[in-house]
Amino acid sequence: MKHIELDGGVSLCELVFGGTKRFDDSACKLQFEMMDRYIELGGNTFDSARSYNGGKSDSYLGTWLRTSGLGRDQVVLTTKGSCPNKETPYVHRLSPQEIQGDLMQSLDQIGTDYTDVHLLHRDDPSLPVGEIMQALDEMVRAGRARAIGCSNWTAARIASANAYARAHGLTPFAVSQVYFSLAQTTPMQANDLTLVTMNDVEFGWYRETQMPVMAFGAMGRGFFHAYAENRPQRERAFYNLDLLPENLRRAQRAVALCRRLGCSLGALLGAYVRDSGLRAAALCSFTKMNQLEDSAAMADVVLTPGQIRYLESGCTDALER
Ligand SMILES: NC(=O)c1ccc[n+]([C@@H]2O[C@H](COP(=O)([O-])OP(=O)(O)OC[C@H]3O[C@@H](n4cnc5c(N)ncnc54)[C@H](OP(=O)(O)O)[C@@H]3O)[C@@H](O)[C@H]2O)c1
Repeated sequence: MKHIELDGGVSLCELVFGGTKRFDDSACKLQFEMMDRYIELGGNTFDSARSYNGGKSDSYLGTWLRTSGLGRDQVVLTTKGSCPNKETPYVHRLSPQEIQGDLMQSLDQIGTDYTDVHLLHRDDPSLPVGEIMQALDEMVRAGRARAIGCSNWTAARIASANAYARAHGLTPFAVSQVYFSLAQTTPMQANDLTLVTMNDVEFGWYRETQMPVMAFGAMGRGFFHAYAENRPQRERAFYNLDLLPENLRRAQRAVALCRRLGCSLGALLGAYVRDSGLRAAALCSFTKMNQLEDSAAMADVVLTPGQIRYLESGCTDALER
């Protein structure tokens, strides 16, 4: 699998193994088997967060790592902190104590001295960026994080934070985790106004700056596969993706292009994220082994600009190029 090089010397795999609420006691054995298989398939990057399963995602990741036989330097770990509490989604947790306390708790739960990338899970755009970047920089200087990133921050806020960091000799964000897939959505549509989803403005900034992206929801949360297999959507469509007619058209084109290229749907969706003009890795989670294998096949698929255009607009003019 290919890798994306971040500032700070961290190398992210093009397919990142996500940690989710599925990472619970009952599904643990299967998740561990999939993590072993992901390594066999050439992957090495695992995502987690303090807020996943009340911190259990971090401790499961640590348990798996200790039993895997792998050295700490053979895997890349991305941790996330500073997510608001569920009951108070608009009350930020971005004080220096909260930022640093969350990271230290993640390290403790995983059982490691450092994370490869520590990301802020949410933003509060009313806060000045200075104190936040200072707190993160202290963690980098203390050797607790090799690089830092953010999630659900707008492009404008990231630009402002990184300009501040560069002007003050602090560590800038090296990567952004953002909802991005072939499907289109908005925070309103996803019923979560604390999310930042990819749109034309955000996309234009990422393309121009080539700021690395970890695209969460890259498999469309199962929307495309349910469409392809003619399975019911409603109770599964977390982001209401099926309610947007453009997404149904995109799903139809994705199925048609898979047939034409002879590739799996998971491979095509992962390749879309990687080949659409950004420096992006597909951040995915799986409930079945065959899903992991289906998506990992993205390593064997390269989409041309003409094929990307077809998926996005239905234009067939440049399908061969
Ligand atoms: N930063 C943030 O705010 C944020 C938010 C959300 C997630 N994340 C991170 O991103 C990761 C992935 O997010 P996600 O789980 O929302 O997105 P996703 O990978 O698009 O969706 C995962 C779901 O899609 C289905 N699926 C995945 N691959 C498939 C395949 N090859 N074939 C058929 N179905 C497949 C499975 O659902 P079924 O088996 O149920 O059909 C699976 O549970 C998370 O684990 C987490 O680490 C970050």
